[in-house]
Amino acid sequence: MRAPARSWARVLGNRVVARDTRWIELECPDVAAAASPGQFVMMGTGLSDVAAPFLPRPFSIGARDGDGRLGFLVREFGAGTRRLTRVEPGDELLILGPLGRPFHLSPDRAVLCLAGGVGLAPFLFVSAEARHEGCEVRIVYGERSGDRVFDLGLVREIAGVDPELRTDDGSLGARGLVIDDLDLGDRPQLLACGPDPMLRACVRLATEHDLPLQVSVEEHMGCGVGTCQGCVVLSATGEWIKSCTEGPVFDATELTWQT
Ligand SMILES: Cc1cc2nc3c(=O)[nH]c(=O)nc-3n(C[C@H](O)[C@H](O)[C@H](O)COP(=O)(O)OP(=O)(O)OC[C@H]3O[C@@H](n4cnc5c(N)ncnc54)[C@H](O)[C@@H]3O)c2cc1C
Ligand code: FES
Repeated sequence: MRAPARSWARVLGNRVVARDTRWIELECPDVAAAASPGQFVMMGTGLSDVAAPFLPRPFSIGARDGDGRLGFLVREFGAGTRRLTRVEPGDELLILGPLGRPFHLSPDRAVLCLAGGVGLAPFLFVSAEARHEGCEVRIVYGERSGDRVFDLGLVREIAGVDPELRTDDGSLGARGLVIDDLDLGDRPQLLACGPDPMLRACVRLATEHDLPLQVSVEEHMGCGVGTCQGCVVLSATGEWIKSCTEGPVFDATELTWQT
């Protein structure tokens, strides 16, 4: 893996793909060349707005192409993401990456991605790369309601598969959670990214069916490079470990789960 680089990336596109959610494309050839599925970048505006500076925020790499273009799903939560979703083509963002430990896929098992909300982002990239390597990939994707579901045409275009959709209220796709009524007949390797309760449910599912599971955790991150200690998670051996450098992808057996 190449060392992460800090660079200014030109915004190539920014479009609405669901309520409060944008697909942002950046020209960032160095990061694109080095990135692996599951890795993330720290993204910020630098000191372009000195009156209201903010720390860079972590975002999973959602797509890359051979021309040095990266794609990100960015959902508005607070001040930082609100600022990022307002960028326009031609603006520049400060990027540090690629960061963190990627997913490791076994070539001999189908891949089943379990995505909650913006937890879908890394699986777009996973699916595109794994299918290119000849792996069979399924994505089960859950949201609270239909208006939060990302543009499914874009998902198909990038990931190369149609996700199996679930919503809590049943307003789009099947009503229920991503782990409900899953077909596990081909004993796939499970990859999960989403809110903490969903990850815990995935751990219970993997344990029950004796299936391998990797999780991508979304802790709050201050620096992304191992210096601030803001992102620690409890390992299975009882030590606090930094999810920005040891993760964000972990084998589920590496962590303690209070299920
Ligand atoms: C490795 C990694 C990958 C990520 N990938 C994506 C992605 O692809 N797309 C995307 O939209 N978001 C992603 N996130 C989450 C994103 O970084 C946060 O939403 C963002 O930092 C919030 O910044 P803010 O200034 O808008 O909100 P803040 O003002 O910092 O917080 C607003 C609210 O959101 C909560 N919050 C902030 N960060 C998180 C978090 N990580 N998990 C849960 N709640 C949080 C805060 O507690 C607060 O209630 C990722 C996070 C990590 C760690
Ligand atoms: S985010 Fe600073 S140590 Fe992980």
